[in-house]
Amino acid sequence: MNKSELKRLAQKHGTPLFIVDHDALRRNYLEFKKYLPRVQAYYAVKANSDPAIVRTLYKAGASFDVASMPEFNIVYENIKGMPPKKRQDYIWDKIIYANPIKATETLEELDKYKPLVTFDNTEEIKKIKRHAPHAGLVLRLKVPNTGAMVELSSKFGASPGEAVDLIEQAFKSGLVVEGLSFHVGSQCTNFENYVQALNLSASVFNEAWARGYKQVKILDIGGGFPAPYDKNVKPFKTLAKMLNSEFEKLFPPHIEILAEPGRFLVATAGTSVVKIIGTAIRDTKRCYYVNDGVYHTYSGIIFDHCTYPLKSFSGGQTEICAVFGPTCDALDTISMSNELPGNLKLGDLLYSENIGAYSHASSTYFNGFPPAKVLHVNK
Ligand SMILES: Cc1ncc(COP(=O)(O)O)c(C=O)c1O
Repeated sequence: MNKSELKRLAQKHGTPLFIVDHDALRRNYLEFKKYLPRVQAYYAVKANSDPAIVRTLYKAGASFDVASMPEFNIVYENIKGMPPKKRQDYIWDKIIYANPIKATETLEELDKYKPLVTFDNTEEIKKIKRHAPHAGLVLRLKVPNTGAMVELSSKFGASPGEAVDLIEQAFKSGLVVEGLSFHVGSQCTNFENYVQALNLSASVFNEAWARGYKQVKILDIGGGFPAPYDKNVKPFKTLAKMLNSEFEKLFPPHIEILAEPGRFLVATAGTSVVKIIGTAIRDTKRCYYVNDGVYHTYSGIIFDHCTYPLKSFSGGQTEICAVFGPTCDALDTISMSNELPGNLKLGDLLYSENIGAYSHASSTYFNGFPPAKVLHVNK
């Protein structure tokens, strides 16, 4: 979005404002499909679960990765009017419940929808058998997350050495394992993680097939596809080219490949506009206090280890400034070194781009400040 449009919207709707550009969502989805034609894209709803975002991606043809019942229900809203058979087919074909650890109550609720669910250990097999015996299973593998901005492999994933035994155990208990999944870590700029994960998956498939489990034929390559936060991030096209050649080498055409992109689809669709509500000089540094912060739209600084540089609408001599959020907590620091004009005044607006993923999604009401107003454009 251009600067004057952003400013106009902020003046009209007030701040803090979180703007979601639905053209950008559609563009990102189309880019994903264009460069990875063999891959079915399941939007990871957790990245931003706004129902309007889910709706736009639904209309664009996306599938969905959900990881809680509320997320499942946001997607379900779009299909609840379908005839039962069509709705059931949709759930089976286009929704995966990709949280390897599920409460028994969740499994009981899920069972009637017969979805695909992930698992990664023995206890979970027993829980699924007991509480959601109609679900299809996908085994989550532990793979290297080296260099990813958000590491996930310490929490989830069966080690490759135990993978086929778990598949066998699931089949022997009467369940059906449909495939394998992995996650290379979010904002994965080390593409080698994908190569290693694909090779590990191929060897698990081969061993499972050798033991007679030919039904295992879905490969879910998870998320991790990096958003272009800065120019050091190699283009998606480069990653896609590498992935396509590994697919070709490792997986016969009957293997269905799916992915769970979250950040890649939604990060560049979000822009935040904030207002300066206070200024100070502390230890010779210019400090700006703004009306949004790390308990709100900028929560990704804490939870997602991400940074969102603030930019000014006006020119002028810049200097290294500190930018703080509105709450009384010193943790509420957006940046201690953000280059901005030194002459900004109360009421001036600042903005951050590429803030659509893992941002508003983890906003709180801390200190009495509500989340930013959300504005959808180009819906
Ligand atoms: C199981 C799973 N799939 C997909 C995603 C989305 O990942 P990303 O936003 O890196 O694409 C996540 C993120 O945590 C996840 O845990």
